Amino acid sequence: MKKRIVPLKLGNLTLPSNIIYAPLAGCSDHPFRQMAALFNPSLVFCEMVKMDALARHDAHTYRLLDFAKLSVKTGAQICGSKPELASTCAQIIEDLGFDVLDLNCGCPVDKVTKDGSGSGMLKNPHLIGEILYLMQKNTDIPVTVKIRAGWDDDNINAAEITKIAEQAGAKAITIHGRTRMQRYKGFANWDHIKACKEAATSIKVIGNGDIFDGHAAQRIFEQTDCDGVLISRGTLGQPWIAKEIEAVDRGENPFCFTGSEYRDLILKHLSFIIAYQNDRRALIDLRRVACWYLKKGVGTKKLRIGINQAKTLEDAICLIREYDFENAFYTTDLDEKQKILQSV
Ligand SMILES: Cc1cc2nc3c(=O)[nH]c(=O)nc-3n(C[C@H](O)[C@H](O)[C@H](O)COP(=O)(O)O)c2cc1C
Repeated sequence: MKKRIVPLKLGNLTLPSNIIYAPLAGCSDHPFRQMAALFNPSLVFCEMVKMDALARHDAHTYRLLDFAKLSVKTGAQICGSKPELASTCAQIIEDLGFDVLDLNCGCPVDKVTKDGSGSGMLKNPHLIGEILYLMQKNTDIPVTVKIRAGWDDDNINAAEITKIAEQAGAKAITIHGRTRMQRYKGFANWDHIKACKEAATSIKVIGNGDIFDGHAAQRIFEQTDCDGVLISRGTLGQPWIAKEIEAVDRGENPFCFTGSEYRDLILKHLSFIIAYQNDRRALIDLRRVACWYLKKGVGTKKLRIGINQAKTLEDAICLIREYDFENAFYTTDLDEKQKILQSV
């Protein structure tokens, strides 16, 4: 079997592998990225930020971009449709120390698309090219773009945008194989990613959508010949997915953790949250993050309810420490695991 996990060159930057963790609004915060870094994806993204807010130095936006250097490279993603802000934003991101700068052309949310931003940009491919050109002209870090297959089934234009992005100087394009109208429903159609790979000459093509385990990563490589994979929901509650993808690529079985290992990993993630947030905020984040991990266990509902009702951090942590993880988390049944992951 052809080895799919290889270094990925984006302009002057060579990433050690082609497994990237996605920008996830409301999820890929600093504690999430610290946790992810333990498992060596080649690049982790911050949550998307708005170009307008970044250009006016909005404090909350800077907080979203808050990062300390990790053992893995970190990318920022900006969202907007104003070419006049492109160079300023690119310079701010580079000055903050990010390794990669991505333009969001995939966000389906109405309040983002209504001014033509996010996936609204799919309706205006030449504007994508213009903004990418200005971004890359004003920074030395690699500029990339993330798109969807098209606005709807009648307007699939990912391959056309791939060529435009390449000409504009973008070093990689990520294609989420759903349309904007699909939002997150149905399946990602990887044929659109294949069409982009066929249209590309030098730009790297990164496949995205429905990669929840190592076997799915192998399948997307085989079906599309993409240069790398971007994992999104598949990182929630399984930050080790990069290791699983590498294991499957080496021809090894995907691994399962024992219950106590699983508990220690959850507690590790929670310790990053507690170190980063004030107590009130940490408890809110802890409930959300613990749920990502616990949804995959069998019979964990009572624990989830207990954590949601806990009044203090200490109470929530205590519930997790005392829970019998051995019975909840030992499955080697891949189909079952796949079903559990897709329900997240
Ligand atoms: C909660 C959530 C937040 C997301 N935030 C972003 C974002 O900030 N930027 C972006 O480009 N895509 C974002 N996405 C889209 C994902 O990166 C990805 O393209 C999509 O979920 C498909 O991949 P998947 O099937 O592997 O999850 C988000 C998706 C989810 C579910």
